[in-house]
Amino acid sequence: MLIRPLTTTDIPAAFAISCAAGWNQTETDWAMMIRLNPETCFGMECEGELAATAVLTCYGQRLAWVGMVLTAERFQRRGFARALLERVLLEADVRGIRTVKLDATEQGEPIYARLGFVAEQRVERCLGRGGGAGAELTGVPGDLDARAFGADRSALVRNLGSALVCEGGFVQRRAGVRARYLGPCVAEDVAAAGRLVRAALATDAGLWFWDVFAEHRDAVALASESGFAPVRRLMRMYRGKPLRGEESLVYGLAGFEFG
Ligand SMILES: CC(C)(COP(=O)(O)OP(=O)(O)OC[C@H]1O[C@@H](n2cnc3c(N)ncnc32)[C@H](O)[C@@H]1OP(=O)(O)O)[C@@H](O)C(=O)NCCC(=O)NCCS
Repeated sequence: MLIRPLTTTDIPAAFAISCAAGWNQTETDWAMMIRLNPETCFGMECEGELAATAVLTCYGQRLAWVGMVLTAERFQRRGFARALLERVLLEADVRGIRTVKLDATEQGEPIYARLGFVAEQRVERCLGRGGGAGAELTGVPGDLDARAFGADRSALVRNLGSALVCEGGFVQRRAGVRARYLGPCVAEDVAAAGRLVRAALATDAGLWFWDVFAEHRDAVALASESGFAPVRRLMRMYRGKPLRGEESLVYGLAGFEFG
């Protein structure tokens, strides 16, 4: 058994593990994570195979995000996820990162609780269809994201590709294995968020995932009015110093793996 950094040659095996778990990340997403975090994407190798993964995305020293905690089914219950998480948390501590957060599945939650994570709030994955008439977008978003998120994630935002922007907001979208992904969506008010979401959904008539804070009433209502329904609930958890952004500005998360 060996814990080592993931490289681009691991992408097919890592993708096979996330697909087998029914997750939405593509090979392009894995490549982006390795590009963004070349020293903090870890794999556990066992019997010559990639058996488990865990990724730490660092947003400066203020915050880091744990994602892609996966163990291939035949290697589960051997302590691999726990060992990888301990490694990832050691990296965060060595780097002096003050807060570590993640979005926990039901399977993951007890493991994180034992490692000192505490619940922050529920996040909800909604599923719906795109299409419809787009909205006209004008203006520039301004510097909203760091305010909304609570830390500088501009490197991630740049890597997610071109955004749709308007006065007081932006939205991004990307491909997924099971559905396209809408988010992050950050806006000054619900009217701007509505225009951004309509413009994004008009670009593809297929299925979309859209993650929101379960307690953000305007975001939940906007998702529902757009024909989206909750399909999963996860628990956002943190370890270290409590840190919240201006979450009223957040109409769509960047993804469970990014925050
Ligand atoms: C969750 C998951 C990563 C656990 O991987 P694993 O390598 O089997 O986990 P470990 O063997 O390291 O177990 C760690 C601890 O969690 C416990 N645990 C493992 N799977 C569990 C489960 N399904 N339910 C409850 N507890 C579980 C173990 O008993 C162990 O407890 P301990 O630390 O007190 O000894 C794996 O089941 C998986 O890939 N699931 C699908 C994807 C997922 O939900 N990932 C979590 C994302 S937040």
